[in-house]
Amino acid sequence: MKLGFREAELECSGNRSLRPESQQERPVSTMYEILLASAHTEDQLALSEVLAGLGHLTVVSDGWACLSLLQTKPYGALIISDRVDCLDGYDVASFARDIPESRSIPILMVADENDQRAVTSVRDGTVGAVATRPINSARVVSQFMELMSHHLERYWETLEDGPRLALTKGKALHDAVFRNGGAVTPETMTMVRDASSAIADIAANRRIPELLRALKDHDDYTFVHSFKVGAFLSVFAQGLGMRRSDTLRLAQAGLLHDVGKVRTPLPILNKPSRLTDREWTIMRQHPEQSGCLLRMSGCVEDDLVLVGERHHEKLDGTGYPFGLKGGQIDSPSVLTAIADVYSALTDHRPYRSGMAPEKAFVVMANMAGNHLEPGLLRTFIDVMRSEGVVPDIPATSRSAV
Ligand SMILES: [Fe+2]
Ligand SMILES: [Fe+2]
Repeated sequence: MKLGFREAELECSGNRSLRPESQQERPVSTMYEILLASAHTEDQLALSEVLAGLGHLTVVSDGWACLSLLQTKPYGALIISDRVDCLDGYDVASFARDIPESRSIPILMVADENDQRAVTSVRDGTVGAVATRPINSARVVSQFMELMSHHLERYWETLEDGPRLALTKGKALHDAVFRNGGAVTPETMTMVRDASSAIADIAANRRIPELLRALKDHDDYTFVHSFKVGAFLSVFAQGLGMRRSDTLRLAQAGLLHDVGKVRTPLPILNKPSRLTDREWTIMRQHPEQSGCLLRMSGCVEDDLVLVGERHHEKLDGTGYPFGLKGGQIDSPSVLTAIADVYSALTDHRPYRSGMAPEKAFVVMANMAGNHLEPGLLRTFIDVMRSEGVVPDIPATSRSAV
């Protein structure tokens, strides 16, 4: 199939908020109900400021009050200082594990450096992680989000086979590739095929919405984005009536298209404010890096290498890295561009909430012709709606697209 076209990644472009970082909204997906128990004034002040941006925070200083609250409603996370009133903080953590409502709650303990009890509590699973004094805001946020992601991954294990396999195989693949510095090996290609097959099965069974719900609180953005692009491409391919083998290839393309970002410095990849010209130049190198890594592997077929290289090209030749035009762009790259833009627009990031699907479709409609291939874009939107990947809306609201 020869189509004309390519794409862009909006999370890296002018779509960023210009507000100072401290004023930016946290994504809806990370608004947790957090209970903080601490009688240590400095801990309370420092943690309240850090955690308020991550969710709805309830603060108590008394250990018994903390345990009592845990029985009244399900909290998303518990932060305990080793210094609480009436009880020892470690005892509170231990007692919390005996309360049915908080048996599996993620717990972050706050303790002094080199506190052996903290080490023991992590080792025996009573707490998930330890934040040491003095409180470092960036480190606590990172520990908290990692804790929540691990908690989410444990939840995946309780899902039915289909979603569970797709999510766990996708994450295992992502971790394997990134642990290897982006090197794709025959072993990781086996993981790519397994994960793609699991995702295509989910798409065939019309359970993508369920899959996306189970994915949405994960904090590893590159994983979430690549996985979503793979899932959207699977739905898209089936909507286009493609054979199973082509659906699998497109899912693989989605999982691998941004592998070159492993070579993009994290401060640039995750920068919450507008990129400088120099940073933007570096960010725009990732498609060539994807192509390079995939080609170097010697075990990835040419069509997947091309998607890595060309998913930011645009129909009118203003894309990157090659400035290809229309029919010069291979069809898998054309299809991937649509799914990639949709994911970039709707993804939640630490510095902004994702766009609602119908709003994203309106934005994408404005890219039809110069950036995205119009006929395929229309099909993509129809398929996403009919598969329930977006909430259904009245026909009158759809006139823009
Ligand atoms: Fe990209
Ligand atoms: Fe992407």
